[in-house]
Amino acid sequence: MEKLVIQGKCRLSGTVKASGSKNSALPLMAASLLCSSGEMNLSRIPDLKDIRTFSKLLDYLGAETSYRENTLNISTAGIRSVQAPYELVKQMRASIYVLGPLLARFGHASVSLPGGCAFGPRPIDLHLMAMEKLGASISIDKGFIEARTTGARLKGAAIDFPITSVGATGNALMAAVLAKGRTTIQNAAVEPEIVTLCHFLNAMGADIHGTGTTSLEIEGVATLNATAFTNIFDRIEAATLLAAGAITGSSITVTDVDPSQLSAVLGKFEEAGCTIISDTDAITLQSPDTLIRTDVIANPYPLFPTDMQAQWIALMTQAEGASHVIDKIYHERFNHIPELNRLGAHIEIRHNEATVHGPGKLTGTKVMSTDLRASASLVLAGLVAEDVTEVLRIYHLDRGYERIEQKLNSLGAAIKRESYQEFA
Ligand code: UD1
Repeated sequence: MEKLVIQGKCRLSGTVKASGSKNSALPLMAASLLCSSGEMNLSRIPDLKDIRTFSKLLDYLGAETSYRENTLNISTAGIRSVQAPYELVKQMRASIYVLGPLLARFGHASVSLPGGCAFGPRPIDLHLMAMEKLGASISIDKGFIEARTTGARLKGAAIDFPITSVGATGNALMAAVLAKGRTTIQNAAVEPEIVTLCHFLNAMGADIHGTGTTSLEIEGVATLNATAFTNIFDRIEAATLLAAGAITGSSITVTDVDPSQLSAVLGKFEEAGCTIISDTDAITLQSPDTLIRTDVIANPYPLFPTDMQAQWIALMTQAEGASHVIDKIYHERFNHIPELNRLGAHIEIRHNEATVHGPGKLTGTKVMSTDLRASASLVLAGLVAEDVTEVLRIYHLDRGYERIEQKLNSLGAAIKRESYQEFA
């Protein structure tokens, strides 16, 4: 396995580029399955474990994928299987994204029940509800979701999600674009990743209206065409890099971003005393002498993202006073807290609310990654801790951060990647 060895107490400075978004790239890759001829050309696709896993899944289904320098070509003309196997799906929960496209194009999909990040219950009932509304019959057989259309195609329907789900909105969209007739989706997610998926589907020839609103209207079409498309930046990676600047008392710039997609997070950095200077495609963060305690509640976009909650808790260990953090999306997403406390942080959890008592001196030791964003919070803590912090099991981090240690080192951090063996 690999670990990051972080020499703490660094100061950062300079400029770093944001990568393409993983959470946007995955549905774009899945949507490619809707196309029965031609080759997709997707640029700004990050070089990440999750992207490789999803490519393997597409290849397994019979697609041809090739990846070079952040550009992914996908040809899905030769799909010969509609079954997403356990061995691949268990590595990544987002594999559920193949359900809608396969069902829409082939009238049948068989997808292993997903695994993925290990925080709290993560049901898929809304994905299945949307497919059923569109006319599919669904059963669970030997750990697989078996979905079939009753006629040749799915049928347009009214889908009203009881809660906002990024994944279920994406799956419903990808199924509805090839359904017969009109589909409406109420309470649709408005995350930039869903907006981007709508743009991509429309570029393929779909007919989606209401993009960026909670009310989507889709006129089904018979076929879709291959296209070239540029992915959006990774807003969570960009925010994590800014947090690295803030926690180390530094001034840094992250480029290749759209600051409007980070309004809630940038507002919180300002509340914490940071100066934020936004340009059209760059954000500069200047840290204050002392960070100010700042509460956050993670909620669907455009509010503060759950995927930045762990990093925010790490940041608040260095702020003056007690900060309160609640996650309204994943109530129990607090696996990072015991590990941050092992570094010397003073964080309590009561009734799904974390209270971070800062500022505290952190001291490096070995800590364990438990999920993607928890890992990022440990890296941030390591940057400010005394001595050396070793973040173990960074395969979680590698799922979602492209060359994070190289990016941080280019700003002045001292992080090494090393192999190690875990005791049995
Ligand atoms: C996506 C992101 C993930 C992020 C999350 C919330 C990807 C690959 N992952 O995950 O990084 O943390 O959005 O912003 O884009 N829910 C149900 N039933 C369902 C589906 C979801 O109850 O069928 C619940 C979830 O348990 C959660 C909430 O809905 O409480 C939102 O989850 P959702 O938006 O679906 O998250 P994902 O799309 O899985």
